[in-house]
Amino acid sequence: MTLTTLTSQFTLVIFIELNRHIKQYLSKTQMTKTYTYGSLILLLISILTLTSLTFWNNQDDQPNAGLTTPQGFKAVKLVEGLGKVRHLIVTPKGNIYARLAKPVNGQGTLLLEENNGKAIVKSGFGNYGGTGVQLYKGYLYVSSNSEIFRYKVDANQQVINPDAPETIVTGLVDKGTHETKSIMMDNAGNMYIPIGCPSNSCQIEDRKKGSLGQPGCPLLETSGGVWQFKPDKLNQTYADGIRYATGLRNVVAVDWNKQTKQLYVMQHGRDQLNNLFPNLYDSKDNAELPAECMYALKKGDNAGWPFIYYDPAQQKKILAPEYGGDGKKEGNPEYIDPVAAYPAHMAPNDILFYTGHQFPERYKNGAFIAFHGSWNRGPEPQAGYFVVFQPFKNGKPFGKWEVFADGFSGSQEKTASGRADHRPCGLAQSADGSLYVSDDSKGAIYKITYSKEAESKPITSASTASTKTTESEKSAREIPAAMRESYTAGKAVYNQNCVVCHQADGGGVQNLNAPLTKTDYVLGSKSRLINIILSGMKGIDINGEKYSNVMPSHSFLSDKQIADVLTYVRNSFDNNASAVSTSEVTAVRKGK
Ligand code: HEC
Repeated sequence: MTLTTLTSQFTLVIFIELNRHIKQYLSKTQMTKTYTYGSLILLLISILTLTSLTFWNNQDDQPNAGLTTPQGFKAVKLVEGLGKVRHLIVTPKGNIYARLAKPVNGQGTLLLEENNGKAIVKSGFGNYGGTGVQLYKGYLYVSSNSEIFRYKVDANQQVINPDAPETIVTGLVDKGTHETKSIMMDNAGNMYIPIGCPSNSCQIEDRKKGSLGQPGCPLLETSGGVWQFKPDKLNQTYADGIRYATGLRNVVAVDWNKQTKQLYVMQHGRDQLNNLFPNLYDSKDNAELPAECMYALKKGDNAGWPFIYYDPAQQKKILAPEYGGDGKKEGNPEYIDPVAAYPAHMAPNDILFYTGHQFPERYKNGAFIAFHGSWNRGPEPQAGYFVVFQPFKNGKPFGKWEVFADGFSGSQEKTASGRADHRPCGLAQSADGSLYVSDDSKGAIYKITYSKEAESKPITSASTASTKTTESEKSAREIPAAMRESYTAGKAVYNQNCVVCHQADGGGVQNLNAPLTKTDYVLGSKSRLINIILSGMKGIDINGEKYSNVMPSHSFLSDKQIADVLTYVRNSFDNNASAVSTSEVTAVRKGK
């Protein structure tokens, strides 16, 4: 019996009792004081129980854990509130190892035990954040953003000594952007570590409007590819590794396909085509270019980033504007083609080839992909925040991909505004063929199972009732008349140059782009603020949070445009501060 049914039965009993009391109360004109108190107390208990019941229902017992899944599948939320859960694995004994981007209470890796549709944390260790986690030949492999460690496990796959990891690889590039390291093993004794490039498109000045590409992109020597190491050799560095494949901007999703014996990865494609090259691309192009690509890799492959991007409409590798492209010229044909392409900016964070026996036959050897969801499609609606299934046949993607589990964001409005409640990040399969999905926003883990009996039942799905977004609907303040013209002009500058990173509601993007709501920088010294727009900003903690993206210099804006956009920012998103004038910007620019 679940807690909910228990609670509802309890409520029912209380209700019947209460009814009886009220009836008696009404029928009796003569009442003792104690009787009245008794009724009141019962009434109180019953209200409290009802409230907790509603709370319980809302939080955990939404039908199908708030997700939509195909008929016959059932989703439960095993746990929530763990922290930023990145990748995860399920041990043969059915326990879960979850990796956190940031340690919670000094613990960066958690071991959870599952029981009756709930999971509880049994232990945690390793005071460092990261993404990758694998179980391989008697060891648990765990990555930080620059190193790979391993811990010996016992017969139950429990770490024997959490204080004594061995360092397998050290010194990998971590510049705080595209910094995560996933881990994958093949069946021939090799380990693969994708290393993201700390750059959007290898511009001389990262993300600066019009800045051209660095010739040859020297960053590719130590990042922007997949490196192969030995899983059992200690203290390896770049010198010990092999650059297995290159030309991959940022890869988080990686799996070894045991059927084709090949490494599959998903690339996070570049962004901001229209901000950086507005004469070649508009905001619609920016929202739809380039595709997020799946690659099947062989040793020595080059996928072509930053020199090309894949245009899903033209189905071609297009020369990047940083390297002389115009949106039509094709790039070097020697770069490999993707094996499948998905909508732009949806951020694939894990891929898993399904090898279990639980799901229907068509899922076997096909790929599940966790899409973390976009931030950079603005001003077009954001997208993603779901788990996709890509059917495969004879080791190749076959037919169109389909949304397998959706509803993580909480509502269509939350998807469109990019303010998703939950964001799928990691995927794992248990020995019995169940699929696990982690969420690095609210720290939840979901489990999706299939049963034949459920196939005949009507689809259980997330309620479509939309919950109102709060942040994106901040009440518009009355703008003083003297400021109105500059404010309106500033809004246009914001939408052209800033919205892509800071978002329409000024709320920024978790871990990536700083919020502009009531920060010291926005409300404080105007000359410091103007300087941020002129010179850019990078790697500064803001209210104790780190942001991995770069704030590029916007010195190409005119003094008036800067004054307008700052007047707009200082009077939007719950901010309320004085206007910035053109002469103030001119003075700061001259003083530089
Ligand atoms: C490519 C993404 C990007 C673009 C475009 C961008 N910013 Fe930023 N911005 C950032 C990031 C990332 C930070 C935080 C940098 C750090 O942590 O050091 C930031 C910081 C700031 C800050 C100071 C920190 C704060 O939270 O108050 C202000 C103010 C700001 N940006 C305003 C703007 C304005 C105005 C525009 C448009 C003219 C703009 N930004 C365009 C990414 C961007």
